[in-house]
Amino acid sequence: MRFQNTILVLALAAFASAQTTSACTAGLPSSYRWTSTGLLANPKSGWVSLKDFTTVPYNGQHLVYATTHDSGSSWGSMNFGLFSNWSDMATVSQNKMNGATVAPSLFFFAPKNIWVLAYQWGPTAFSYKTSSDPTNANGWSGVQTLFSGTITGSSTGCIDQAVIGDDTTMYLFFAGDNGKIYRASMLIGNFPGSFGTSSTVIMTDTANNLFEAVQVYTIQGEKKYLMIVEAIGSNGRYFRSFTATSLGGTWAPQAATESQPFAGKVNSGATWSNDISHGELIRVNADQTMTIDPCNLQLLYQGRAPGSGGDYGKLPYRPALLTLQR
Ligand SMILES: *[C@@H]1O[C@H](CO)[C@@H](O)[C@H](O)[C@H]1NC(C)=O
Repeated sequence: MRFQNTILVLALAAFASAQTTSACTAGLPSSYRWTSTGLLANPKSGWVSLKDFTTVPYNGQHLVYATTHDSGSSWGSMNFGLFSNWSDMATVSQNKMNGATVAPSLFFFAPKNIWVLAYQWGPTAFSYKTSSDPTNANGWSGVQTLFSGTITGSSTGCIDQAVIGDDTTMYLFFAGDNGKIYRASMLIGNFPGSFGTSSTVIMTDTANNLFEAVQVYTIQGEKKYLMIVEAIGSNGRYFRSFTATSLGGTWAPQAATESQPFAGKVNSGATWSNDISHGELIRVNADQTMTIDPCNLQLLYQGRAPGSGGDYGKLPYRPALLTLQR
């Protein structure tokens, strides 16, 4: 009898725990509502801005890389010391990199057991470096070519790479501050390597609607992918979202207007920033599938004090974190 009661209790506990998670079997919500932290860290002395965050889970902690800008005219890059709790981001070390890796994308390329840091403004449109210890800001290899193509009708040229893989193929998505999203691809067996020189325009809209900071993710538990793209709105920067059933396929708008965005002033919950700008969703692991858990969505973003202005490079961008409310 006692034994049977134990079984019953265990069964009820399992049922209760299934009930708590069942609110999320539908995957991504159709409309988004977030809460936001305030700014999580100020730049250390010598830098005026921390931007373009990329982040992976690393041994149960958060590893973050970012772009920096100094008080002059120089862009650079850095990583943060590891931390477990976002509230510790304010006090961990900020480690300057020798050799800027601007707008970085960090991931672990599992098939070859190597870390990859992709970035812009190297010798070609996009470059990458590899490492066996991504916590060491200055432990990266020399520059390798990721993509050496060019685009037309863009004042910035290729900007803001997003690299992601499925079982067979690695994809490179990027923007051009010009209303277009581009895609290139290569066999996964050839990666790390160069995507070559050619790309395809896969989306076209106004420059404001498809501006920059594209990110692409595998949605855990679904045969679906999520793309977010930073747009320029009347109330600041915001993210629009799109979904696709294959990385080489077409993308359908999901939460793609300024009034009902993926994340923007109207739904971020942030009071310290109007801009919800370049950053990354928190992934479930660090690998090249860029997998996110739709039941626990969080976005590390760059924001800035409303009313701040002046030189673009010196805008006081800082990190903060959105958490999806369900
Ligand atoms: C993170 O730190 C905050 C502030 O110190 C604290 O309230 C919160 O409980 C911590 N979270 C975890 C998961 O430890």
